[in-house]
Amino acid sequence: MTRPHVPDLAAALTHGSRMPLLGFGTWQIKGDDAVRSTAAALEAGYRHLDTATVYGNEGEVGRALAESGVARDDVFVTTKVPGDRSGRALDTLRQSLDLLGTDHVDLWLIHWPTEVAVELWGELVEARESGLTREIGVSNFDTDLIDEVTKAIGPAPAVNQIEWSPLLFDADTLAGHRDRGVVLEGYSALRGGTLEHPTIVGIAQRLGRTPAQVIIRWHLQHGIVVIPKSVNADRIRSNADVADLELTDDDMAALDALGG
Ligand SMILES: NC(=O)c1ccc[n+]([C@@H]2O[C@H](COP(=O)([O-])OP(=O)(O)OC[C@H]3O[C@@H](n4cnc5c(N)ncnc54)[C@H](OP(=O)(O)O)[C@@H]3O)[C@@H](O)[C@H]2O)c1
Repeated sequence: MTRPHVPDLAAALTHGSRMPLLGFGTWQIKGDDAVRSTAAALEAGYRHLDTATVYGNEGEVGRALAESGVARDDVFVTTKVPGDRSGRALDTLRQSLDLLGTDHVDLWLIHWPTEVAVELWGELVEARESGLTREIGVSNFDTDLIDEVTKAIGPAPAVNQIEWSPLLFDADTLAGHRDRGVVLEGYSALRGGTLEHPTIVGIAQRLGRTPAQVIIRWHLQHGIVVIPKSVNADRIRSNADVADLELTDDDMAALDALGG
């Protein structure tokens, strides 16, 4: 089987890390499926894995990474702390590290906002200073809350992971993140009817590609991180096979126009 042409594109984060723009999402993949799918992603050339405490698969993701033969330092690993773990966040991270079989993650995110977001952010800052994570960020935050945690306890989150796709494109949201030096990471790009949307299907047919590849490539050309999930080895490979796909300016504009 030919190896996919995986794009070598990355975002520069606050503390100097290089975050591959393409990662592998692992939500709802459990047990042996999680080991198999993560192994298939690493074999296909993904060098960025996205998990979370609440996914219940950090042990399986860590096992696949350890068995892959790929050096730990060559893989960008993200996990997330539940938003309500204020006061216990560092213990949660140590459990994540044990399960993942590593002494640090590359990115640790607050999974969702709560009224204790500022306190929790302070614990993430502490974890980074202790070397347990290289970078820290948030998920499902709006820019007002990003400003609130930044003002209370800087620096700004390196990343905000939010739901994103051509159908959710919003130039102001993207610019708001850029203005704050926050990298936008999108999730669930292949859900919500994107794969069947006639504009996306039309571009895919013209280029002889899949709708998923068009959506993934659209993120990359915007400099947005994208983390497609699949349990299917063929889809895992084809979703990453986008290095030599180029969307025209007209394609990009047509896809942007699908947003709200
Ligand atoms: N921070 C948060 O709150 C949050 C929330 C949601 C997700 N996430 C992260 O973002 C990742 C991605 O989001 P997601 O898992 O919701 O959805 P996704 O990656 O956008 O879509 C996954 C769905 O698309 C299917 N799929 C994958 N590739 C395909 C292809 N080439 N053609 C047709 N169908 C395809 C998958 O089915 P098969 O598996 O059967 O291929 C699965 O049903 C998650 O895994 C997780 O890591 C974070």
